[in-house]
Amino acid sequence: MLIAGNWKMFKGPAETGAFCRALRETDLPEDVDVVVCPPYVSLAAAVQALAGTEIGVFAQNVHWELEGPFTGEISAPMLAELGVYGALIAHSERRQFCGETDESARTRTRNALEYGLDVIVCVGETEWEREAGETEAVLRRQLADLEPNDRLVIAYEPVWAIGTGKTATPELAEHAHELIKSLVDVPVLYGGSVKPDNAAELMAQPAVDGALVGGASLDVESFGAICRAASPS
Ligand code: PGA
Repeated sequence: MLIAGNWKMFKGPAETGAFCRALRETDLPEDVDVVVCPPYVSLAAAVQALAGTEIGVFAQNVHWELEGPFTGEISAPMLAELGVYGALIAHSERRQFCGETDESARTRTRNALEYGLDVIVCVGETEWEREAGETEAVLRRQLADLEPNDRLVIAYEPVWAIGTGKTATPELAEHAHELIKSLVDVPVLYGGSVKPDNAAELMAQPAVDGALVGGASLDVESFGAICRAASPS
C-alpha cells in the first residue's frame, strides 16, 4: 500500500517544515509506504524535516530534459540532488491548465524513470468522457506505450472526483484499476476525494494499491487517518 499526499499549490517552506515535523510524530502503520508531494520551493524543507524517516518526498512534476534552455522548469537531477525520490507526472490539473499532453507525459515518465526517479503517473477520464462511454478509450490512450517498471506507479484519478467530494464507488474504482493493470501491470493508486471515512472501503478493493490524496492530505490528522485506514493489518 502506498499513500501519497498531493499538496498542489499549498504550503510554503515554513508550513511544510511544521507539517513534516508533526507527521513524524503521528502514528503511521509500518506496512504502508507514505509519500508527500509539496510544491517545488518546499521540497528542501520537507526532505530536511523528514530525514531519517521512511516517509518519501516527491515533486509534483519534472521536466523531461536533464538541463537546458527551459525557463521555469526543474529537472530530475536537480530533484535528486535535493534528496527528492520521485515525481508525480501528468496530474489532471497539469493536463487541463498547463498544456500537458499524453505525449509530453510519456516523455516525462520515460526520462524520469531512466534517470532513476520514482514516478506516479496520473490518468483518468472527465465527467463528459465517462458519460459518453469513453472511459476505457481514454485510459488506453493515456497509457499507450508505457512499459511496466519497478519504479512506476499509476494513479487513477477520475477528473470528476477530484476536489469535488464525489468519490468513485469502490466497484467503479476496482473496474478501472483492473483495466489499467491489464494494460500496464504496476501498482495502481486511486485518487479523487479520498477522505478518512471512505479510504478503508476503497483500499479494500483487490486492485487498489493505495491512494493519491489531495485536500485531505493537507491536514496531518486526516492524512494520518487515511494512512492507518489503508493498513491491511
Ligand atoms: P482530492 O485531490 O483528494 O482533493 O480530490 C486528489 C488529487 O488531485 O490528486
